[in-house]
Amino acid sequence: MSKQKVFLVGATGETGKHILDALIEDGTFDITCFIRTSSEGKPSTQDIKDRGIKVVTGDLNDPIENIVALLQGIDIVICCMSPVSLKDQIPLVDAAVQTGVKRFLPCNWGTPCVRGGILASRDVKEEIHDHLFRYRLGFTIIDIGFWYQASIPRVPSGKFDSMILIPTNEVYAGGSVPNMLVDVRDAGRITVEIIKDDRTLNKRVMAYGEVLSQNEIHKIVEDKTGERLELTARTDDDARAAFKARKEAYEANPGELVNRYLMTVAQYAITKYVRADNTPENAKYLGYISANELFPDFKYKSYAEFVDELIAGKVERPYPHVKV
Ligand SMILES: NC(=O)c1ccc[n+]([C@@H]2O[C@H](COP(=O)([O-])OP(=O)(O)OC[C@H]3O[C@@H](n4cnc5c(N)ncnc54)[C@H](OP(=O)(O)O)[C@@H]3O)[C@@H](O)[C@H]2O)c1
Repeated sequence: MSKQKVFLVGATGETGKHILDALIEDGTFDITCFIRTSSEGKPSTQDIKDRGIKVVTGDLNDPIENIVALLQGIDIVICCMSPVSLKDQIPLVDAAVQTGVKRFLPCNWGTPCVRGGILASRDVKEEIHDHLFRYRLGFTIIDIGFWYQASIPRVPSGKFDSMILIPTNEVYAGGSVPNMLVDVRDAGRITVEIIKDDRTLNKRVMAYGEVLSQNEIHKIVEDKTGERLELTARTDDDARAAFKARKEAYEANPGELVNRYLMTVAQYAITKYVRADNTPENAKYLGYISANELFPDFKYKSYAEFVDELIAGKVERPYPHVKV
């Protein structure tokens, strides 16, 4: 049988690099990575070429015939670009329709949430979904819960500091709201399982490693490190006020990357803890099927195993270019 041809956008990103690893490891795909022309000279692009993977370059806003040419013969498009570039998927969907792509994975890999200003990136993601549905293009929408890598409280000794982007020592709603969580390194392997299975075509699929509350996370960290966490209680009103302040800071200076990350974190506090959107029950309500039920033998890393790696100093801090 001929290999499925996959076109991957965002292979050098925090999530995309794990998708590329998993596609390569699986061995049954013919992979093409799309790299922005402006990133052609980056070491991360050279790394992909050095692994023998086909790289094509361009800009998703190039004339559509250029994108159509790149997609000739492609079966599956996987988009995993940075949230600021989500709208660039629109011309890619248009080109995919023209070339008969069988399955388009829009850039999701987040938490379930409805549109309406709760999570700015989700509103844009839903616009892309609408564009897919408009053409009845084959799709699979994958969400994975919140990363373990973004769910790390600071411990007093400071031994996790170099691995933390933004510490999570603020406790919302008493710390008891359950949340779906995942090790981002599992995002690639589960994506490969999902795209190899026809049951996931034209479906929203939810995959996650564990469901834990903040209190459960903190107990795991305290038990494993023997350190007592310094935590600050936050009310729902605090969460809304923090979002308002960070949104204003972002709007005053949108070019400052850190402002976008801080605003996003504040939005996540509302969707995760005030609204309790990131639960298996809400995902089912929103029409997701469960990868955890479809693939019961898939082994996700547990949060406790992740903490062991933190203690060993083996976790990579995400977004090294973002200074907080
Ligand atoms: N579940 C969670 O907790 C969580 C956490 C973070 C993110 N996410 C989600 O994961 C998804 C991916 O985000 P990420 O943070 O992993 O991405 P990221 O690290 O910011 O990814 C950047 C990648 O996108 C590429 N890229 C950026 N703009 C592009 C464009 N216009 N055209 C083509 N390629 C472009 C970059 O290529 P270059 O090499 O050219 O720079 C790079 O490969 C998003 O949907 C995001 O919301 C989820």
